[in-house]
Amino acid sequence: MDHLASICDRIAGMLTLRVLTMNDWPLWRDVRLAALTEAPHAFKSRLADWHRGGEERWHARWEMPDAHHVVALLDGRAVGMADGVPGDDGTRELKSVWVSPEVRGRGVGERLIAAVETWALQSGATVLRLTVIPGNEPAIALYQRNGFVASGELGDLLADGVTREHVMKKALH
Ligand SMILES: CC(C)(COP(=O)(O)OP(=O)(O)OC[C@H]1O[C@@H](n2cnc3c(N)ncnc32)[C@H](O)[C@@H]1OP(=O)(O)O)[C@@H](O)C(=O)NCCC(=O)NCCS
Repeated sequence: MDHLASICDRIAGMLTLRVLTMNDWPLWRDVRLAALTEAPHAFKSRLADWHRGGEERWHARWEMPDAHHVVALLDGRAVGMADGVPGDDGTRELKSVWVSPEVRGRGVGERLIAAVETWALQSGATVLRLTVIPGNEPAIALYQRNGFVASGELGDLLADGVTREHVMKKALH
């Protein structure tokens, strides 16, 4: 048990977060594609969208002024990501949160959220908003644990033409 605990600590210890710069587009693209491949149920975007104009849309997101892109690295290998982008009325949006299964349950998601929250606070926002697909319990639990509450608002319609994303918000202090 001690040995297992020490391995877990070591894995956690080697994890770093990196804020991406404009030259990092290939890295961001690769992690985003890994996320859509591994967890298609969690995102409104589909892997297939990449070939139907998605690349241009993601590039526009990438180049959005004042956006903040964070990647989690394990020994230099990307194992997680989160984006912060400007929203309406001075809010900021948390988007594209993903953690590779090999490092889930070690607080990586929490660290990625904290990094985007810090950016949002520093940019003067008072609210951080996100959308989540109903039924994505691990993500909803993570967001609730980190202070997000369901706002009752509905987000975009999903591909099934029936279900809408749920909006969660966190007041920033
Ligand atoms: C949702 C998701 C981002 C969570 O990432 P994560 O890194 O596992 O999140 P955390 O580790 O911060 O928290 C998850 C669990 O680990 C636990 N945990 C946190 N820190 C820990 C640590 N140091 N050691 C052990 N467990 C820990 C948490 O208590 C939590 O447990 P619980 O959910 O069983 O109660 C990840 O599951 C994922 O990428 N899912 C697919 C994509 C997705 O759904 N994205 C969200 C779109 S809205």
